[in-house]
Amino acid sequence: MSATARRAFLKAAGALTLAGVSGPVRTDAPPSLCGPASGTRLLPPGAGGWFGTVDLAAGPVELAAQTVAPTGGMPWTNAYAVVQGDAVRLAPTFVAEPGTRARITLRNRLDAPTIAHWHGLANDVANDGAGFVVAAPGATYAYDFAVRNRAGLHWYHPHPHGTAAGQLYSGLFGLIRIDDDDERRLRRALGLEWGVTELPLVLQDRRDAIYAADGVDRHRGLLGHEATVNGCTGAWLDAATRRYRLRILNASSARTYRLALTRDGRPMPFHVLGNDGGLLAVPTPCESCFVSPAERVDLLLDLRDVPVGASVALETLDFDPMHARLPESVDTAPVTHGREAGSREPAARPSAAGPAAAAAVNSPGRTWHAWPEGGRKVLATFRVRSREADRGRLPEALSALPPIDVAGAPERALRLGFNKGRWRINDRVYAMHETPIELPRRTSEVWLLRNYHTSMPHAMHVHGTHFRVLERETSPEQVNALAIDERGRLATDLGLKDTVLVWPGESVRIAVRFDIDYDGAQTYLLHCHNMEHEDGGMMLGVRVT
Ligand code: C2O
Ligand code: CU
Ligand code: CU
Repeated sequence: MSATARRAFLKAAGALTLAGVSGPVRTDAPPSLCGPASGTRLLPPGAGGWFGTVDLAAGPVELAAQTVAPTGGMPWTNAYAVVQGDAVRLAPTFVAEPGTRARITLRNRLDAPTIAHWHGLANDVANDGAGFVVAAPGATYAYDFAVRNRAGLHWYHPHPHGTAAGQLYSGLFGLIRIDDDDERRLRRALGLEWGVTELPLVLQDRRDAIYAADGVDRHRGLLGHEATVNGCTGAWLDAATRRYRLRILNASSARTYRLALTRDGRPMPFHVLGNDGGLLAVPTPCESCFVSPAERVDLLLDLRDVPVGASVALETLDFDPMHARLPESVDTAPVTHGREAGSREPAARPSAAGPAAAAAVNSPGRTWHAWPEGGRKVLATFRVRSREADRGRLPEALSALPPIDVAGAPERALRLGFNKGRWRINDRVYAMHETPIELPRRTSEVWLLRNYHTSMPHAMHVHGTHFRVLERETSPEQVNALAIDERGRLATDLGLKDTVLVWPGESVRIAVRFDIDYDGAQTYLLHCHNMEHEDGGMMLGVRVT
């Protein structure tokens, strides 16, 4: 970072103020990861937001869900905050190791009920934060659990049923990084450092300043006009001729990305190192990968052969979003919202939208969209500015995956579809106290996630455990083209998963198993992580006995 950029960044960070915080108001970790609004954008090395870490092993923490004053180009109106001494850290990354005891008290400083869910962590129902219990405004909810996961990048976000989409969109989310020996070995081998050469990148497309979903959005999921990475549009980083590890989370409401690393517009091959459940067994070559809401992907960006002065972009490439035709019952009348009136009228035609994207553009209710899903866009740019000798060796094996035996396991069919105005699983809409799926602990099941042709892609997430993707069948051609094995799986399907995108007409078989011996039966959730589908009840209770 140049001296001027650094000064400008520090100024922007210093200008950030907090509203609704009693007690200490100094913030040394702003969620604004952008530069000043002057047009200079950057990903700060080791600065605020999820670049800052809070070690859960250090003792109990209080996590406030609160409003923040939008400054410094930050798009969010709310944030999670941890108060440590006289410092307030916004949206910190919690770090832990397997076995760490996590004691976190959520304090609700919002004017609506909320609850925090630890997405990707194996927990009992009392600590899962799945929405069976919420904290009223002004109230607290105390979590106390042992981290039982292997290494991986997870995240925390609100889960009050019916209002989770808007709370996530408002800025309530953060990362959880679990480290273990495999992680340390990889970091050592490649000389990686969190926030410097190992970069958390959170993707979220934005539209209105305040969440406002109309009937079309509730049907398809809310799509933004703008791409943000760590809260910045046009994010860039001055990089060296070395390798970088990109730990990406898709925190969008509904947008799926087809990520690629491009030089002069051409995809460069890269390695996938991990995904939702942590490291894969081996680094797996890839040219582009679909990342749906809530999925994580861990990529190795190799700039060793890129000349100084050139740049490499993290892009989302064109694809067919395969959106469902809008049913008659959806209210397609354009909606304007008081404070953001007119913001639905985009200012310019989309520049790089593929044919499929153009079809989506011409759908009823939206004459066209500034950035249709499946439209190509540069998300962030790595500008190679300096030379650095990178002598690290990428390990051939990354981690040993826990085996899961599905020989003779029963198969459970779960059909994803739309009927009578609602998205459904097995024709049902979520009812909080029902658990249509029941299975005993320590038994493996094969779940067959079948999506109707007339449906749209659904990002199916299971709470409380990680699963394995066994196979994909009758996948659309654009998905099949990326398959790396005879079972139709993609590079990002390997390893352990907690969220898997199921395309229209596709069947995905996953191996599911709940192993941990909690006291008594536990209730988990299976739901679509398209946030509008989740809020709309595309969710089922899962009872583990
Ligand atoms: Cu990330 Cu049930 O959610
Ligand atoms: Cu979850
Ligand atoms: Cu869905």
